[in-house]
Amino acid sequence: MSARRTSLGSAIAPPDDPDRQLGSDSNPSTKFGSPISDALKELNKSSIDFLKSTVFDSFFEGEDRAYARFYALETIARVPYFSYLSVLHLYETLGKWRRAKYLKLHFAESWNELHHLLIMEELGGSERFLDRFLAQHIAFGYYAVVILLYVLNPVQAYNLNQDVEEHAFETYDKYLKDNEEKLKNLPAPKAAIDYYVDGDMYMFDEFQTGCEFRRPKIENLYDVFVAIRDDEAAHVQTMEQLQTELDVASIHDGECEIDIF
Ligand SMILES: [Fe+2]
Ligand SMILES: [Fe+2]
Repeated sequence: MSARRTSLGSAIAPPDDPDRQLGSDSNPSTKFGSPISDALKELNKSSIDFLKSTVFDSFFEGEDRAYARFYALETIARVPYFSYLSVLHLYETLGKWRRAKYLKLHFAESWNELHHLLIMEELGGSERFLDRFLAQHIAFGYYAVVILLYVLNPVQAYNLNQDVEEHAFETYDKYLKDNEEKLKNLPAPKAAIDYYVDGDMYMFDEFQTGCEFRRPKIENLYDVFVAIRDDEAAHVQTMEQLQTELDVASIHDGECEIDIF
């Protein structure tokens, strides 16, 4: 089965006053955030690299710390979606901008990252108090920082999170290459089967980039990490797309043609 994008959806403006709508489908970069400079993009990358090298590479060093590292990564990296939702919710409450689709997309992304977290917890990544303490406190501060960034300039917030998701993708990709044989001989956690195989796939489809249609095969732990890595790639693409486009296609909104072979 494959899918392709056929049309763009539309913003839902607050009734009676289209001027109160912050967004316009024609020019998102000037309506919902401003384009950022290459220097700022570089600063974002350096900040994430710094966090990776100071916290993750030192505190979670070693083969036996892999699941704890992933637990911390998933605890922190899902926070931006919660920040976006908080700000979007506030805009709606104030009647400034309404875009139900963004709420759905970012919640679906958050829902996906939650399941990555559940998988890491089931694998034992959250067993140590110190790991939980560190990850949860960074997440708390990060929530506030991203809210501020998203209020000031959503493009900046999306760009920073693109770097985080790229880091997540690279981390899982390296882990898969280094541990292929071992992972193929380990069972898939129940949380992964519940989410990727037995679950209602509506939310899973909702966060895919554009009209991409994915159904991960989950037969062992290797497959689980492949699915997680590919989820991170989808998040990277979504974050990148939202920096220049106001709209994203969704399979559920009648914006895609689905071909069934
Ligand atoms: Fe994740
Ligand atoms: Fe992620």
